[in-house]
Amino acid sequence: MKAVLSGKAGPPDILRIVDIPIPEPGAGEVRVRVHCATVTAGDAILRKMNRIVLGALGALFGFKAMKVPGVEFSGVIDAVGADIGDFAVGDQVRGTTTGLAYGANAEYVCVPAVSKNSVVIRKAPEISHADAAAATVGAMTAMQFVRKAELKSGEAFLVYGASGSVGSFAVQLGKHFGAVVIGVCSAANADAVKSLGADSVIDYAQEDFTTNGRRYDVIFDAVGKLSRSAAKGSLNPGGRFVSVKSPTKEVAAELEYVQDLQVKGEIKPLIDREFALEDIVEAHRLVESGRKRGNVLIRVAEDRD
Ligand SMILES: NC(=O)c1ccc[n+]([C@@H]2O[C@H](COP(=O)([O-])OP(=O)(O)OC[C@H]3O[C@@H](n4cnc5c(N)ncnc54)[C@H](OP(=O)(O)O)[C@@H]3O)[C@@H](O)[C@H]2O)c1
Repeated sequence: MKAVLSGKAGPPDILRIVDIPIPEPGAGEVRVRVHCATVTAGDAILRKMNRIVLGALGALFGFKAMKVPGVEFSGVIDAVGADIGDFAVGDQVRGTTTGLAYGANAEYVCVPAVSKNSVVIRKAPEISHADAAAATVGAMTAMQFVRKAELKSGEAFLVYGASGSVGSFAVQLGKHFGAVVIGVCSAANADAVKSLGADSVIDYAQEDFTTNGRRYDVIFDAVGKLSRSAAKGSLNPGGRFVSVKSPTKEVAAELEYVQDLQVKGEIKPLIDREFALEDIVEAHRLVESGRKRGNVLIRVAEDRD
């Protein structure tokens, strides 16, 4: 099968397209023929990580060091191991690969049917593989922080970094929960953030929200570039600050919730650009820039939506 290989640590152009054997699912695993995958901000960080450190982390947490990158996928189960519960060959599924094992930037990936470090759910037929793959980690992450902040209807919800993957989902989830959403982004992304439902946007190059005298009930740093101390003075009494810098967990119920909202048309992934697997280096360059708008899609199987 065709796969991306990330053998050593380095810049995007260390990535290669290789031909490797199709993996065989072990007990408790399903094999997915990948239709769409993505490149996330986390993928770019992992690519640069020293392989000895990565190997040590793998030994500690029980995963094989990443060789094939890619954590989000949508596709069809084409083979199964023993004890895979309700799943069957032919099921359309979406989800994440286990922890830091990765592997979704390939034509096939084997993933556990049930795991505390990854999620696999049936893809709703109304959702394309592209929209399924692109609304996974960013959407689940945004969901967990919105819940952690206990965002309520009518509250003023400021999303810092509203044009990233996590931020663009946070804006839409904020509207879903009835909040008044204020997105902080650059002027270039203002229209995109408004199109997601933001009630207003602040251009961070023109206005510093921490000194404009306004107060918010929840401030979510969705891009990891805002400190709690900087945000503190802009919170209403009882206000909450949450940041993507805190760890999250992958929970299948969260992805099911996201999927329901997708089916209802309440959330949709913002997709900056779509690349073929062969153009993985260019895709990583875009993610590495730190300026991607929403999500970066990798279409592995051209005609399979
Ligand atoms: N905790 C977790 O489990 C978890 C899960 C997923 C992601 N993350 C982390 O969350 C962070 C965000 O990831 P992401 O994929 O959503 O986005 P990203 O690719 O890291 O960010 C891209 C977006 O952020 C905007 N941006 C960049 N600098 C900014 C600044 N100083 N102020 C406001 N906006 C800024 C960019 O827009 P402009 O060009 O317009 O500035 C661009 O649209 C990453 O650090 C990632 O590792 C954490």
